[in-house]
Formats: sequence, C-alpha cells, structure tokens
Amino acid sequence: MRVVNVNTNTPYDILIERGLIGKVGALVRNVTKAGKAFVITDSNVGALYADVVTESLRESGFDTALFTFPAGERSKTLDTIAAMYDYMADFRMSRRDIVVALGGGVTGDMAGFAAATYMRGISFVQIPTSLLAQVDSSVGGKTGVDIRQGKNLVGAFHQPSLVIIDPDTLGTLPELYFSDGMAEVIKYGCIKDREFFETLESGDAAEMIEDVIERCVSIKRDVVNRDEKESGERMLLNFGHTLGHSLEKIYNFDGLSHGQAVAIGMVMIARASESAGITAGGTAARIEALCKKYNLPVSDKASAAEIAAGCAGDKKAGGGSVNLVLLKSLGESFIEPTPLSALEGFICQK
Ligand SMILES: NC(=O)c1ccc[n+]([C@@H]2O[C@H](COP(=O)([O-])OP(=O)(O)OC[C@H]3O[C@@H](n4cnc5c(N)ncnc54)[C@H](O)[C@@H]3O)[C@@H](O)[C@H]2O)c1
Repeated sequence: MRVVNVNTNTPYDILIERGLIGKVGALVRNVTKAGKAFVITDSNVGALYADVVTESLRESGFDTALFTFPAGERSKTLDTIAAMYDYMADFRMSRRDIVVALGGGVTGDMAGFAAATYMRGISFVQIPTSLLAQVDSSVGGKTGVDIRQGKNLVGAFHQPSLVIIDPDTLGTLPELYFSDGMAEVIKYGCIKDREFFETLESGDAAEMIEDVIERCVSIKRDVVNRDEKESGERMLLNFGHTLGHSLEKIYNFDGLSHGQAVAIGMVMIARASESAGITAGGTAARIEALCKKYNLPVSDKASAAEIAAGCAGDKKAGGGSVNLVLLKSLGESFIEPTPLSALEGFICQK
C-alpha cells in the first residue's frame, strides 16, 4: 500500500491501493475509537459502494447510518447540510463518533463541513471516488457549500483523520468526470513537476493511475503543509482557476464542467503570459496538446472582456486586483498580483 503523510495541524495519512474499498472498516478503526460511523454519500456512488462500505464498518464494530443525497453540485447547499444535522442528531452521534465521506468532491466538501460544524467539530474520513476527489479535493481540509451568490462561499478548514483511495472505484466513473479530474492532474505538472507533465505526455494516465494519484496528492500535501490556510503558496493550486471560474460563471455552472473550464483557463493564461514574455516559448502549446489528449477543451468563444469582468466577483479577488498564477516554464510557477483593470489587456495579448 502507498502511504502519503500529511503534516498539517492535525496530521493524517492518505492510503492508496486497489481494493481498499472493501477494507475500510479496519482502516477507519485504526484512527478512531468511535462507536458510530455516519456514512454520507450521493445517489450514484451510494448505489455502487454504500453496501460494501457499511458492511466493512459494521464488521469492525461500528454502528452505522447512511445518509444519501441526490448526486450533483445542485445538492451542495445548506439545506442538505441541515438534513444531515437532523439525521446525525437522531442517530445520537456524539463528539467521539465519526463521519465517513464516500463519493466525489461534492460529497467530501459537504460531509467535511457537516463534520466541522456538528457539535463544534467531529472527526471525519474521506473515501474519494472521483478522480478529482482522489487527486485534489479530499486532501487539504477545505470543506464547504455553495450559496446563491457563489460556489463554496460558506465553509471551514477541517482536516480529515484519514483519506482512503481505491483507484478501482474509477472503473465506474463516467468518462466525462475522468477527463474533468485530468485537468487538475495536468495542473500539478504545470505548477510543480515538469517530469510528471512529461510522463503524462508520453504515457496514458489511466494505465499508471496509482502513480498519478500518489504524485498529485504528494504535490498537494507539500503545498498544504507549507500553507494550510491559503495565505501564500497554496494559491499556486489555482493555476487556470481564476479564468476558469469566470468561464463557469458565464455558463451559469451549466454546460461547461469545472475541469473543462480549468483546462481552457490554463491554456488561456499560459498563452497570455507567453505573449508577455513571462513564460518560456512553446509552453502553452504543450499544455494545449496535453489537455486535448485527455479530451478537454482548450478554447472558448467568450471574449476577454467577459472573462475579465467575471474575475471581478471572484472570492479570491480583493482590493481591485487578482492573484494570477503564472508559469516561468513547465513545473515552475509563481503568483502575480494583477490589477483587475489590466486583466482584459493581459488576456488579449497576441
Ligand atoms: N475541497 C477542495 O479542496 C476542493 C477542490 C476541488 C474541487 N472541490 C469541489 O469538488 C466538487 C467537484 O467534485 P467532483 O467532480 O468529484 O463532483 P461530484 O462529487 O459531483 O462527482 C461527479 C459525479 O461523479 C459521480 N461519481 C463519483 N464517483 C463515482 C464512481 N466511482 N463511480 C460512478 N460515479 C461516480 C458522482 O455521483 C457525480 O455524479 C465541486 O463542488 C468543487 O467545488 C473541492
């Protein structure tokens, strides 16, 4: 089994191995003395994996309850969280009990938030089942929900006690979501690891998925260890995301997925900074080719003015400027505070 240790305020392990989904009970038992395990999942993942997970937890002595919500970002609301609290209280969950998040990023973010706030914070374990959740959202302790005014506007930092990754679960993940996760995988290569980027260029990510997951979570671990609450280096993980979020908003979070928007954002910002002489020549073309290889779009019809305008409302934009993540070259990234007034001109550069 591959083990990646995360040394945040409360340290925890990320375990990666095929077939772990059937062994979660014993693994969770290693990190808690809880009597009750509250499993949170969505309708798709629950239908596939809830039985095996709850059965394994019961075998390890946990009294279990299962909370299932309709799959999809639309469920990521405070109403769903309120329903979780109700169920947790009825199940008589105490401070020493544990929440188990079984699913993609939507499940992990909401289960983490419920755990962060129920009785002022109880433990939780992540069992991520989408590629995005396995390489990104399950690690780092960001939890939260969407509100009408924007995505992830309400949340808390709450680190899991354990992350259990079974790459075999990706076998049931729809192709679109695999590509979506690949945008984040490519991002890690861009910002921190040229060699990894080149491995993705020459090989097939699906065929070396354990290596890919381990590399990605190790990069995220290193960044989060140095900057748990996103005051500096952690912002590098937003490469492609500033423009991507703006595109998602233009499409009203419908019609363009997060990964697709990030892919377009990465190519667009790399092209702009290459034109400005900041990024080594040829970088944007390589990012574009790699995104295409993993079935991600690389351009959009939205104008630079529309995209720049969308960045103004970004929760990470403050004081009239936005922290753009730029590359010097593949694997070498830095943060460039940029006035919003200059953004349109920057993206427009030819
Ligand atoms: N906390 C963080 O640091 C962080 C980072 C990035 C993204 N996010 C959040 O993650 C969310 C997106 O995550 P996502 O793309 O995983 O979305 P998701 O949880 O909605 O999962 C995508 C789809 O795949 C299905 N699915 C998941 N695993 C499956 C499997 N093994 N087999 C079959 N179907 C499966 C789900 O039911 C869903 O329909 C967003 O809400 C985003 O804000 C959080």
